[in-house]
Amino acid sequence: MQIQKNVSLKSYNTFGIDVNASHFVSVETEEQLKNALALHQYENKFILGGGSNMLLKVDLDLLVIHVNLKGIKVVKENTDFVYLKVCAGENWHNLVLYCVDHNYGGVENLSLIPGNTGTAPIQNIGAYGVELKDVFESCEVIDRKTLKIETLNYADCNFGYRDSIFKNQAKDKYVITSVTFKLTKTNHKLNTAYGAINDTLTEREIFYPTIKDVSDAVIHIRQQKLPDPKEIGNSGSFFKNPVVNQEKFNVLRKEYEDIPYYPVSSNSIKVPAGWLIEKAGFKGKRFGDAGVHEKQALVLVNYGNAKGQDIWDLAMKIQTEVKRIFNIELQPEVNIIS
Ligand code: EPU
Repeated sequence: MQIQKNVSLKSYNTFGIDVNASHFVSVETEEQLKNALALHQYENKFILGGGSNMLLKVDLDLLVIHVNLKGIKVVKENTDFVYLKVCAGENWHNLVLYCVDHNYGGVENLSLIPGNTGTAPIQNIGAYGVELKDVFESCEVIDRKTLKIETLNYADCNFGYRDSIFKNQAKDKYVITSVTFKLTKTNHKLNTAYGAINDTLTEREIFYPTIKDVSDAVIHIRQQKLPDPKEIGNSGSFFKNPVVNQEKFNVLRKEYEDIPYYPVSSNSIKVPAGWLIEKAGFKGKRFGDAGVHEKQALVLVNYGNAKGQDIWDLAMKIQTEVKRIFNIELQPEVNIIS
């Protein structure tokens, strides 16, 4: 375990923001992680996973611990289910491909989501009608202060829409070291109801899809709409989709008949932030190297050398304009590191 000084984090965050870490260590075993957490000379420590859901605004004068624990193993199985324990540093999409290859069902709709497995529960990643919580069995964590290992089950994690205990009561309390998933071996429950998946399968004349067909369809859809972080820096959806009450929604609908929406409960309705941003005129706009993706207005992009502050200034411009036009306050989905 070697601590490096003055390390650029550009290749460690999918936005491709070039900030410096004063101290940096990559840990490959639980033991190394514990040792790094125990280094008392570094008062502040920052846990870095896949770096796919953060906007780095400033240099980090602290110890960055890059969690690079690898390994996938079956811990239990019967005829119907397999329980797969996956170390935190495994790339999420590689895990999905592994599951598809082994005919383990449940994560195929979550194909091509950037980031690592260990950070996936923090924001309860989701796409096309499936969320991580739907396949989550438990996770192992290390308490950052006591260095004790604990197991958290589904109920402990308090999952919500892009939300969990790790963003609230347990913020900065733990490092997730592995996640155990419960996946199907037979009778896969395919989620193809999401319009774009059905359309893609029909176009391909697939009427009895396998989990591989669903995964391939999701990959196709995402590649068409979302920029590949290897080519253009981005962090996926920058804002959460806001939820409004019925009264407010009625006012909006009167003015904008074509507004897309998803009812959440009897009095709350989710409105796509991408639609609001597009209506506010930002889709495809570029301000220096910071921009709004031309095919999906919910995604902010770094065309090369944008600073975290440039992306943030654009986000604030969007937030102000959406508030002025629709009286809706957009909240960032990505973690802002400042
Ligand atoms: N829309 C527009 N203009 C745009 C973008 C979207 O009008 O520029 C409209 C679409 O036409 C559609 C609606 O907004 O009617 C919803 O768009 P879409 O289906 O693309 O999904 P989203 O709400 O923009 C969410 C997740 C994505 C996830 C997709 C698919 C959030 C914040 N985002 O996006 O997650 O892939 O659904 O399930 O919930 C991520 O979190 O990084 C992410 C990419």
